[in-house]
Amino acid sequence: MDGSLSAGAESLDGYRVMPAALRDLRAVRRLEKLIFAGEAYTYPDLLFLFLRPGIINLKLVTPDNALAGFGSGGRLPGSPRVWIISLGIHPDHQRRGLGRFLLEMCEARLSGPTLFLTVRADNERAITLYRRSGYRQIGIRYSYYSDGEDGIEMCKERPWPPGASAR
Ligand SMILES: CC(C)(COP(=O)(O)OP(=O)(O)OC[C@H]1O[C@@H](n2cnc3c(N)ncnc32)[C@H](O)[C@@H]1OP(=O)(O)O)[C@@H](O)C(=O)NCCC(=O)NCCS
Repeated sequence: MDGSLSAGAESLDGYRVMPAALRDLRAVRRLEKLIFAGEAYTYPDLLFLFLRPGIINLKLVTPDNALAGFGSGGRLPGSPRVWIISLGIHPDHQRRGLGRFLLEMCEARLSGPTLFLTVRADNERAITLYRRSGYRQIGIRYSYYSDGEDGIEMCKERPWPPGASAR
């Protein structure tokens, strides 16, 4: 794993992270559908994420420029919190450290000492990833998802501004 910087994009093992733009909308929608099925963000949801100021959208691409992941984060209307809004890695590219990498890249672009997210209670993979990345459970949203599954609310506190030491 090299984790190196290359020409404006951060990369890991040849996979590059860069801002996702409107031209990526179709590919991101396809990926979201593949990963999240019935709970995937719709085109209007994604348009909202792409157009709303203060939301960062990142794509992870393979060495030959195929979309391998998508991450989004920022402030949502009606909440002062900063959220990890979406994180997904294409099934063909999972378990290579890319989920963790994309999460870190999203976190690095979000401001504030506390980050929040909600994850399905039955999504052990993602919960493990988030725990190992410093998130802890702070609550449960009962029947939060369309099939009745609960949502686990998690948050991560980090030194802020970056580099500041805790006293
Ligand atoms: C969750 C997800 C983003 C993880 O991406 P990934 O690239 O496979 O994860 P990584 O390779 O970076 O692994 C990071 C950590 O996740 C956990 N993890 C990943 N795959 C796992 C698996 N199959 N079983 C258990 N834990 C797993 C591990 O803790 C791993 O850390 P480790 O390498 O120290 O063991 C990916 O599985 C995914 O896109 N899932 C579907 C969408 C989703 O659930 N998104 C989160 C919604 S909130």
